[in-house]
Amino acid sequence: MVRRQLPKPGEVFELMRFKKPELNAKRRRLNAALTIHDLRDIARRRTPKAAFDYTDGSAEGELSLARARRAFEDVEFHPYVLRNVADVDTSITVFGGASALPFGIAPTGFTRLMHTDGEIAGAQAAAAAGIPFSLSTLGTTSIEDVQEANPLGRNWFQLYVMRHREISHDLVERAAKAGFDTLFFTVDTPVAGARLRDNRNGFSIPPQLTLSTVSNAIPRPWWWFDFLTTPKLEFASLSSTGGTVGDLLDAAMDPTVTFEDLDAIRRIWPGKLAVKGVQNLEDARKLADLGVDGIVLSNQDPGRTDRADYETAGRTVGGGTDPEARHQLSRLHARVPVGSAFGARPERRP
Ligand SMILES: Cc1cc2nc3c(=O)[nH]c(=O)nc-3n(C[C@H](O)[C@H](O)[C@H](O)COP(=O)(O)O)c2cc1C
Repeated sequence: MVRRQLPKPGEVFELMRFKKPELNAKRRRLNAALTIHDLRDIARRRTPKAAFDYTDGSAEGELSLARARRAFEDVEFHPYVLRNVADVDTSITVFGGASALPFGIAPTGFTRLMHTDGEIAGAQAAAAAGIPFSLSTLGTTSIEDVQEANPLGRNWFQLYVMRHREISHDLVERAAKAGFDTLFFTVDTPVAGARLRDNRNGFSIPPQLTLSTVSNAIPRPWWWFDFLTTPKLEFASLSSTGGTVGDLLDAAMDPTVTFEDLDAIRRIWPGKLAVKGVQNLEDARKLADLGVDGIVLSNQDPGRTDRADYETAGRTVGGGTDPEARHQLSRLHARVPVGSAFGARPERRP
């Protein structure tokens, strides 16, 4: 039998610890976001559908994306116990410099579409976290502005070799001059991917006002306010004449790029050079033989193609089930740093 008593005012008072309300709505939203899934929910609510789907979607049936997620879900930790872990050092040395965590911010094209602050926010966040920031050739902020946003940290430049080679070479020279220390020579986009969500949404660059975009805009006024009151949303290094992302990529990228182009870039780039978007061990070994400084092994950025090699790339994050792929990968890793670009944006809540 529970013994009851009248509540004592002093004890009730002690329980009352009302927090001061957070008046800044942005800070309130971010404080309440505990996981990347929560951030995705906020993005979905606040960003027009076409912009959200450009960021969240991938090619064709999005099978590669689902497999990439599975590879991360399959990762297991086997921690040792009874070690003094009061001070944990997560830092690594990568491409001749330090990073406070074993990852950096990957390059994304058209970043200011996702958020007005775009690459500047990314570069500043990287600076605060002590990790590298990568600027895409399809970025919406210039090389020089990124350098200004992250003057003391590490900036990396992601290069697409374009039909007009002089544009790519000029970007490489500007990145070197601005003190970027690593170049990601990217090889996964000889042609654009079939991004069906973009097609269905009629997504174009720059975004166009149509009846459906306007009706989709009504519940998302702040995105449009930012869009219309900040500098024009455009590529910092390319000019777009309109059309889908696919149209733009097909017009700009060169499907004839070969190992000779890699060699040409190597001759003008003074820093570390990694190849991003390698999809199989045979190519990876060939690149290691050529002496590149790093390999970003990928199941292909899933935005480009579907049904890419899952086993080999999955091993870079600890997924995949093939022991031979694990063995080959560790042999390769002993020769050259192999990282992952595994295209696993979140979908479900844990
Ligand atoms: C919206 C979006 C845009 C991207 N744009 C580029 C790009 O311009 N250049 C590039 O090399 N990779 C680009 N990527 C690929 C990422 O750099 C990265 O390789 C890929 O997302 C896999 O990493 P993750 O596993 O962290 O998602 C893009 C990815 C996303 C989701």
